[in-house]
Amino acid sequence: MSTLLLLNGPNLGILGRRQPEVYGTATLADIESAIAARVADRGWKVLSVQRESEGELIHAIQDNYESVGAIVNPGALMMYGWSLRDALANYPAPWIEVHLSNVWARESFRHESILSALASGVVVGLGALGYELAASALLDLVPPTGP
Ligand code: DQA
Repeated sequence: MSTLLLLNGPNLGILGRRQPEVYGTATLADIESAIAARVADRGWKVLSVQRESEGELIHAIQDNYESVGAIVNPGALMMYGWSLRDALANYPAPWIEVHLSNVWARESFRHESILSALASGVVVGLGALGYELAASALLDLVPPTGP
């Protein structure tokens, strides 16, 4: 079965309880279910990895080069995760960067992502829906496999 990698960085395991006025009330489990439902018809299963540390996220990327694509919310690593960037540069499939909040409308230190230039696309500010839209985009971007 094909695997879609869902990677979430620091502080995203507590979604639903983390500043709901900024990040919404959906939990990571809610987001995983919504993505799984969106890609089920294609026969993809979702491998969800949330880690607080950059090194563990890098391991998850290196261990899953055979996945069909990835959805990545790097959290604050968007701004300084250079090793994560190097790992994503070697990831062979399309991946999409997602941020729940509209980082452009927030503090200026959130206005730069060092990862975005490597992504196939970026979804910002649409809350949990952003992950689902990223999953839909990957359904288009990833070529179907044989019969
Ligand atoms: C975030 C935005 C980041 O700036 C922040 O550090 C996060 C969450 C988002 O999903 O909106 O941890 O990636």
